[in-house]
Amino acid sequence: MSTELQGQIAIITGASSGIGAGVAKSMAQAGATVVINYPSPSSQPAADAVLKEIIDAGGKGMTAQCDVSKEDEVARMFADVVAAHGTVDILVNNAGLQRDAKFHEMTLDQWNTVIGVNLTGQFLCAREAIREFLRRGPRPEVSVATGKIICMSSVHELIPWAGHANYASSKGAIKMLMQSLAQEYGDRQIRVNSICPGAIQTPINKPAWETPQALNSLMTLIPYNRIGQPQDIGNLAVFLASDKSDYITGASIFIDGGMTVFEGFATGG
Ligand code: BGC
Repeated sequence: MSTELQGQIAIITGASSGIGAGVAKSMAQAGATVVINYPSPSSQPAADAVLKEIIDAGGKGMTAQCDVSKEDEVARMFADVVAAHGTVDILVNNAGLQRDAKFHEMTLDQWNTVIGVNLTGQFLCAREAIREFLRRGPRPEVSVATGKIICMSSVHELIPWAGHANYASSKGAIKMLMQSLAQEYGDRQIRVNSICPGAIQTPINKPAWETPQALNSLMTLIPYNRIGQPQDIGNLAVFLASDKSDYITGASIFIDGGMTVFEGFATGG
């Protein structure tokens, strides 16, 4: 246990699996009380398991169901968290999904589902968080910043992705959402940054790592030659939420084993 986030309340959306679960564990280990958001009743057992692991390790937290793409559900989750814990200090806008399709075959439903969760979900949660930060004002006893928002973006806010135009579009848009918020609220000491993961071993990209052949092919994209783990992202999220990163706002931080240095150019070009 460390104490970097001691006394702070952190909401992590989409925390019942994958990167979100990793971030929740890392933040709890750093002393935060974590709110493990999950989207629907079917993911409740997974959310409960993440909470149990955190509590068994001496951490603190709660679970909270809400579909981040629904305005009333997001408002209710924030109200519940404020009622239970007094305020919110950190939002990790993590919930995200893929609905992959060739562009000429992509349905409006596939498009809307991805934009609804990945982009509108980040808008709705960030808006509630900023409203709460403004209402509450500074809390110097826990942090120099009045509030911190971390947006989970992707290497695909930079790297175009054929067959995933909806997903790449959502991540490109998150860059502008994040930077606009950093610009708009910097003078109120609200810091907003993005984490841009590369290939992290989670359910969202199972086809890319579940067989040795797939993993080998993935390695041709990763100079550092290993797939990332949720803990890698958790470590960065704790740093970005802590006062150690107090002068960082409006930044997209890539954490990708070098995926964005375009390994193909090592021998081509
Ligand atoms: C996607 C993964 C993919 C990774 C690298 C992530 O944002 O969700 O499916 O493996 O980017 O391409």
